[in-house]
Amino acid sequence: MNLKEKIAKLKKEKNAIILAHYYQVPEIQDVADYVGDSLGLSQKAAETDADIIVFAGVHFMAETAKILNPTKTVVLPDLKAGCSLADSCPPEAFKNFVKAHPNHTVITYVNCSAEVKALTDIVCTSSNALKIVESIPKDTPIIFAPDRNLGKYIIQQTGRDMVLWDGSCIVHEAFSIDKLLKMHQKYPDYKIIAHPESETHILKTATYIGSTAGMIEYVKAHPKEKFIVATEAGILYKMQQEMPNTELIPAPAKEDNTCACSECAFMKVNTLQKLYDCLLHESPQIDVVKHIRKKALVPIQRMLELSR
Ligand code: 13P
Ligand code: SF4
Repeated sequence: MNLKEKIAKLKKEKNAIILAHYYQVPEIQDVADYVGDSLGLSQKAAETDADIIVFAGVHFMAETAKILNPTKTVVLPDLKAGCSLADSCPPEAFKNFVKAHPNHTVITYVNCSAEVKALTDIVCTSSNALKIVESIPKDTPIIFAPDRNLGKYIIQQTGRDMVLWDGSCIVHEAFSIDKLLKMHQKYPDYKIIAHPESETHILKTATYIGSTAGMIEYVKAHPKEKFIVATEAGILYKMQQEMPNTELIPAPAKEDNTCACSECAFMKVNTLQKLYDCLLHESPQIDVVKHIRKKALVPIQRMLELSR
């Protein structure tokens, strides 16, 4: 049996589910029961009746699945699958930030630790951030954390004056505006689509701004168009599967790297072999201490209720 067949067999024997983010390598996406964006993945995690959740994504995503399923086993292929954005918001510093802004409603983007979620009123993802912010009464001041680029985008879209935490994603800040504009000059008939974690000058060039799932839906809804895609390059695999005849180019990164595009090194530490090993040994497991888990569950459930 090859590795993919072994994973399928083991998954059945152990009543496991494999949830994968669009940024995972293609062979992981191929064995997953569900491939999606952060919102879709938390919705799947909330409704699964599997005994084991194999989370092919990064740590905060697996942690969210564990918070939603405290009695299930949640494994991550590699514990080094972190997130620069989550790391840019240390819980102690964030606690002080919240204290310094009393009476503010705290909205955090799902890309943060369980400890930060425990200090939060309502969680959001890039799919539902506008809706969640708009659900808060207009006269209520808001803290938005940790992504300053998504925060700025929401302020611009809603006119809400939010206090922003100064965090960001290294991958989405790696796009080069100069190279992107040059690329667009070379391919003027391509439309730029971008993830809202990107910087404002990148977003200004975009015809469509949305989550990874939103970007895929936009491409599917415009079969005659060609696209320059400004998000982590792993998304191109699913986009191209959905739209085999659509021409897609990854947006160029500031530093030349092997593929001249932006790849998330954290997402890419997971491999098919590590996924098999973690399912076989049921390790490394994700655990969240009870008092944090209970507090963090409340804002996640609020988000899920508002996203139905
Ligand atoms: P979405 O999956 O919500 O689009 O977010 C992208 C991302 O950076 C996940 O880490
Ligand atoms: Fe975190 Fe950015 Fe990687 Fe997403 S792409 S997991 S936000 S570092």
